[in-house]
Amino acid sequence: MLNVALPKGRLGEKVYHLFAKAGFDCPAVLENTRKLIFENPEAGVRYFWVKPSDVAIYVARGAADVGVAGKDILLEYRPDVYELLDLKLGKCRMAVAAPEGFTDRKEQTLRVATKFSRIARDYYASQGRDIDIIHLNGSIEIAPILGLSDVIVDIVETGTTLKENHLAVMETIVPVSARLIANKAGFRFKTEAVQRLTGGLRKEVEEA
Ligand code: PRP
Repeated sequence: MLNVALPKGRLGEKVYHLFAKAGFDCPAVLENTRKLIFENPEAGVRYFWVKPSDVAIYVARGAADVGVAGKDILLEYRPDVYELLDLKLGKCRMAVAAPEGFTDRKEQTLRVATKFSRIARDYYASQGRDIDIIHLNGSIEIAPILGLSDVIVDIVETGTTLKENHLAVMETIVPVSARLIANKAGFRFKTEAVQRLTGGLRKEVEEA
C-alpha cells in the first residue's frame, strides 16, 4: 500500500486527479465528507488530507511514503526527503514587496516581516544586506502598513492581495510550484510503486 499525503484544498484536488490518471485512483477521496483517510486496496493506495504546510512532516517521518508540497515549504523547512518531480501546479513566486513608493536606504537595517524567515535570511545574506526579521504567521501584508516592518517577504500568486493593500513587488526571490516528494526509506522499500507513480505523473505533466 502506497501512503500518500495530499495538501487539503483546491490544489490537493488537482493533484489527486493527476495521481488518479497515473494509475492510483480512489474515487472516495472526492466525497464531500469530513473523513481524512481514504483507501483503494485494488489500486494499492491510501490517501490522507493534511494541512499543506504539514505534508513534508508526514513524508519526512515516514507516516506517508510520498506527498505533494510547495517549493516554498521545502526551501523554508529543508525536510529530509527526496524531491522527485515538479508538478507545475500551484505556480506562484516568493517575492519582496513594499508600500508603493517605498525607497530603500541601503545603509539602514531593513525590517522584514515574513512567515518564511529562512528564505528571507538566505536571500538577504546572499546580498550582504543587514536585516531584522519579524516572524509572523499570516496577514503579512499589514505589517508595513502599520509600520511594523519596511518590507515583506511572501507568496505572490495573482498579486491581488498586494494591490488591495497598496503594496508592490520589488524583487522576485524564487518561483514556486508543487513538488512530488518521497520518504527516503519508503523510496527504497516501495521502489516499484513510487517509480510507477513518478513515471505516470511525469507523463501527465508533460502532456498538460
Ligand atoms: C497567500 C499569501 C498572500 C496571498 C497571495 O496567502 O500569503 O497573502 O496568498 O495571493 P494573491 O497574490 O493571489 O493575492 P494564503 O492564502 O496562502 O494564506 P496565509 O494567510 O496563510 O498566508
